Formats: sequence, C-alpha cells, structure tokens
Amino acid sequence: MAVNGVPATGSSDGDNTRINNVPIDRAWINARLSDRDDQLYIILTRSGLIHDVIPSSAETVAALQSSLNAASIIDVAGGWVTPGLIDCHTHLVFAGHRANEFEQRLQGVSYETIARQGGGIMATVQQTRKASFDELLKLSMPRVQALIDQGVTTVEIKSGYGLELETELKMLRAARELESRLPVRVSTTFLGAHALPPEYHNNADGYIDFLCREVLPAVATEQLADAVDMFCEGIGFSVEQCRRLFEVAAKHGLPVKGHTEQLSCLGGTRLVSEFKGLSADHLEYLDEAGVKAMAQAGTVAVLLPGAFYYLRETKLPPIELLRQYGVPMAIATDFNPGSSPLLSLRLMMNMACVLFGLTPDEALKGVTVNAAQALGLQDMTGKLLPGMQADFCVWNISCPAELASELAVNTLHQRVFAGEPG
Ligand code: NIG
Ligand code: FE
Repeated sequence: MAVNGVPATGSSDGDNTRINNVPIDRAWINARLSDRDDQLYIILTRSGLIHDVIPSSAETVAALQSSLNAASIIDVAGGWVTPGLIDCHTHLVFAGHRANEFEQRLQGVSYETIARQGGGIMATVQQTRKASFDELLKLSMPRVQALIDQGVTTVEIKSGYGLELETELKMLRAARELESRLPVRVSTTFLGAHALPPEYHNNADGYIDFLCREVLPAVATEQLADAVDMFCEGIGFSVEQCRRLFEVAAKHGLPVKGHTEQLSCLGGTRLVSEFKGLSADHLEYLDEAGVKAMAQAGTVAVLLPGAFYYLRETKLPPIELLRQYGVPMAIATDFNPGSSPLLSLRLMMNMACVLFGLTPDEALKGVTVNAAQALGLQDMTGKLLPGMQADFCVWNISCPAELASELAVNTLHQRVFAGEPG
C-alpha cells in the first residue's frame, strides 16, 4: 500500500520498530522537506531534538496513531518544511536611531564621511552608553520578536556600541537575557573593536591594548561571548591591531570572525582565515587571494546585502569566485541603526538573489545550514537531521524558491523551536 505516492515497502518495518521502542514527543507527518528529495517525510521529535526523519508510509502513520495522542501528531498535509532560519549577523542591541544620517546620505554625504565627523557608529555609542540594561532589553525584545515571527530560531547579536568596559558587558548581558526571555537561540559576539571611542582619540593601539588587557578577559570570565569580531577598515582597525585582538581571543579559546573588505581591500579576511575564523562578513572588496584563504580555512562568507543596498554600494562581492572555490555563503540582516536598519531576513534572501545573483536555493542555504556554520553551530541546528535541535518552519508556499522570490503576506505557518511549536 502506498500513501501519497510513497511505497510502504523497504524501510517501513525498521521505521515502525524505531517508533515503538523510543518515546517520541511529537510527529510532523506528510512534510515536504526543502533539503531532501520530493517525497513526503515524517519528522519525529524527542526532548527538543530531531529523533529521526523518515519517509511517510501508511504503516508508520498507523503506528504513530496508536502510540501518540492525536494532539502530538501534526499533519503538515504536503506543506514545505525548512530548517529554522538563522540570522547570523546582527547588531540588534542598541539605543537611539540614525534617521538624520539617512537624510544626510540621501543628500550625497558618504557613510565614511559621517563616521569621520563623529556620527555613524559613535552616534549610536553615545545613545547606548546612556541606556540602562532594562531600557536596552526593552528596545531589543520587539526586534527579536520580529525575527521570531519570520521563522528565525537562532540569532547572533554583537556588542560594539559601548567601546568601554561597562557598556560592552551591558550589551552582551542584554543579548544573553534575550535568550531566556524569548523562544530563540542567541549566539553572542564581542565586537569591542568596532570603532575608536573618543577616549582613545588618535590612539587606536592604546584602545586595542585596553580591549586585550581588560575588556576581552572580563567578557571571557563572565562567558558573555561565543565569538570575537572586529571591523578591519580605514575607519576601523588595521590588520595588525586585529591580529593582536585575535591572539587574545585564541588564548581564551574563543573563535573569531570579522567585518572585512566592506569598503576597501585591507586583508582582514586573510587574517580571519589565518585564525581559522568562523566567518568573514561583508566582503564586497574581497580579492581572489582572500577567497582562496577562506576556502582553505573553512571560513564562511557572510553576505550582507542590506548594508550594500542601504549604503548604495556598487562594488559587488565576488560571488562567482566564492562558488568556484567552494566557500559556503551565508546571508544575514546585519540589522543595525546605521548601515542596515532592515529587520527582515526574507528581504535579505531576496536581495541576495536580485543584487548579488545568488540562486533561491543558495539563499535558503545561506540562512540555514551555512548560517549555522558561520556561528559554529553546524552540529546543532540548520539541518533536519537526527540528533540536531528540532528547529524548523512549516510554510504556506508552493515551492522553497518562493521564500526568496516573494515578500507579500507572511507565509510562515508554524515555527518549531527546540521541538516546541510556537
Ligand atoms: O556591519 N561595518 C561596521 N559595522 C556595522 C555598521 C554599524 C553602524 O553603522 O552602526 C555594519 O555595517
Ligand atoms: Fe555588521
């Protein structure tokens, strides 16, 4: 007998045994999986994890019906299921806004000029330093909720609007707190080397010393960061300064990543690769040597089309080279008040296709499996495999490409985080 075109022969006996022997919490039946062939599958979950993913068959469904209560069997009825979405690069804990700079840029003033005049990142630093922990949390909760409502199950959040000990810690504590307040996994990143604070005017080396000596050790002691990031750029820090920071990160056992080659080609990506970094992000000005280094190191390329669009950049990241060398590409919002105040991961998927020439399939991998790798979470989430966290989304779509092609009504039907439908 066949159900929905899937023959019940072959593995079905084995499947039934597995179901009968192991207590399953829930079963999503008749699911079409974006990362598999065009059959119908059953996703079995147990204690927050994917217990197994097996082809649908009448026998298996009958076995489930006899061992689980009806509410634990969710019939997806041929709907598409993807891994939960992952936004692997955000700066979503901050206070204030920069609408005035948006207006300036529309008049032709560049992002770099605004930064050199004390605006840009420093404008947000002033606001964020003034905000209390509770205020920061209150501002950040709806931002994370907005991502959750789109199907995001893991979000990365950076510090970098403090640039002094207390505010950097406050931001990271707020980011960690978001994970206990909302049903989402938060990966935190220390970005003390984001900009030079006024206290260290003309003394970038002194500021890096301070980060290495005081801030990063404090962050590490409190276990507030899962990775260390930097901004390697003319308006940020030099390769040598970033190297010193990375050496201290390595001493604390923290993986590194970088904002590199965004406005010029300084060689920050090669530095990240030298440290076997998780990801190099932005990459518009990346050259072939940098791409090669990433491929050898297994570093993920995180593309940020929102910042490219918002800053009216014209230099495209080297997508074809990244493909040629087999560098995994991830896509993220880079949500921040200056260069990408755009809190839609689906919009980023669309922009990655329209502006950067990715395929919809690459865009989907960019916000699932490759985004997980950019956070070092590839064994935990981003794929529908036994043993992984049960993070997935059920969509009202006709095919997975629609996730990148269309931005109309919210097509998220159900989001499942760590086995819990929400
Ligand atoms: O990823 N490049 C540096 N940092 C952010 C921008 C932060 C800001 O402008 O506030 C980025 O684009
Ligand atoms: Fe960023």
